[in-house]
Amino acid sequence: MKIAIGCDHAGFGIKNAVKAHVESKGYEVVDVGTYSADSCHYPVYASALCEKILGGECELGILICGTGIGMSMAANKHKGIRAACCSDVFSARLTREHNDANVLCFGERVVGIGTALDLVDAFLGAEYLNNGNHVTRVAMLSDIESKN
Ligand code: RB5
Repeated sequence: MKIAIGCDHAGFGIKNAVKAHVESKGYEVVDVGTYSADSCHYPVYASALCEKILGGECELGILICGTGIGMSMAANKHKGIRAACCSDVFSARLTREHNDANVLCFGERVVGIGTALDLVDAFLGAEYLNNGNHVTRVAMLSDIESKN
């Protein structure tokens, strides 16, 4: 499975460690930048990552900014993207299982590297519970998206 990863300058400090961790689990990683700590604009990298997912090159994505919020807002503007900003492991697991989230976002200024790696493990280790009300509700999300 290919995982896309992206960050802005405020997430750059932990991106490479997150990337190395994901690779150590046997995933291939596509890094969409940014590639330095120079100030930049998070929507650019959110869009670059979402294109990798929507184009089929990558199955899931991880976005890191200062809070995770800007990245999740930008990612969720893309039709077909369900991005979740998480700072606890329970939410990172449940957003895969219940919401079929395809992008995990978190903030370097919010979580330390230990929690960041735990969030990644919870997210990548979980599977969508593709049945019953979960399917109905995720379809309702798509319906809202297509009407707005
Ligand atoms: C950058 O200063 C910061 O605003 C950005 O990384 C992110 O936290 C926005 O939501």
